[in-house]
Amino acid sequence: MENRSFTYDVLKEIQNRWSPRAFDAQKEVSREDLMALMEAARYAPSCMNEQPWSYIVGQRGSTVFAGIEAALSDSNVEWAANASALMVILSKEQFSHNDRSNRWHLFDAGTSWGYLSLEAQKRGLITHAMGGFAADQIRTTFAVPNGVAVIAAVAIGYYGRREDLSEAMAAREKPSPRKPLDEMLFIPLED
Ligand SMILES: Cc1cc2nc3c(=O)[nH]c(=O)nc-3n(C[C@H](O)[C@H](O)[C@H](O)COP(=O)(O)O)c2cc1C
Repeated sequence: MENRSFTYDVLKEIQNRWSPRAFDAQKEVSREDLMALMEAARYAPSCMNEQPWSYIVGQRGSTVFAGIEAALSDSNVEWAANASALMVILSKEQFSHNDRSNRWHLFDAGTSWGYLSLEAQKRGLITHAMGGFAADQIRTTFAVPNGVAVIAAVAIGYYGRREDLSEAMAAREKPSPRKPLDEMLFIPLED
């Protein structure tokens, strides 16, 4: 796959996951698959087992889907409207057990979406996270209370046809590269 090379034999789902835009507008994602993705997200580890994440999920054609779609930026809605489902990841900012600020809530919510994306990959689904949307609009539309952060949107569905993308989007339709492995280590591993 373009831009992908692995030195180590990591999970196939990690090797094959990327963020496409060519969603198949004809395909639907089953309730079973969507709930399985929720289950994968559910079993992410979290600080104090707080599980700060929650999800707004809607299949295409639903009012929830329309509400999320309406908040997406123009450049995202162009392709994400073809997804079979849209979701928004929320996260509670304070610990439930003592009402103190939970400094790790975003870390934990990110882990849960990571789990979800790999389960999706295993099920033949594609996922594409999006920061380009109006978080305030999501808060209003779905009555998300203060203290719950609106973090990211995700498009979920099946791969369609690259040819159906606009020229600008088709040019970007490939996995993003990664920095070299060595650069990840803030301090090189000792021998
Ligand atoms: C939090 C987050 C926000 C993102 N926002 C957008 C977005 O608004 N629009 C978009 O097309 N891609 C978006 N992406 C996709 C990233 O560009 C993509 O994941 C990154 O380039 C790595 O590529 P890969 O997922 O294909 O490996 C986002 C990804 C994440 C995790």
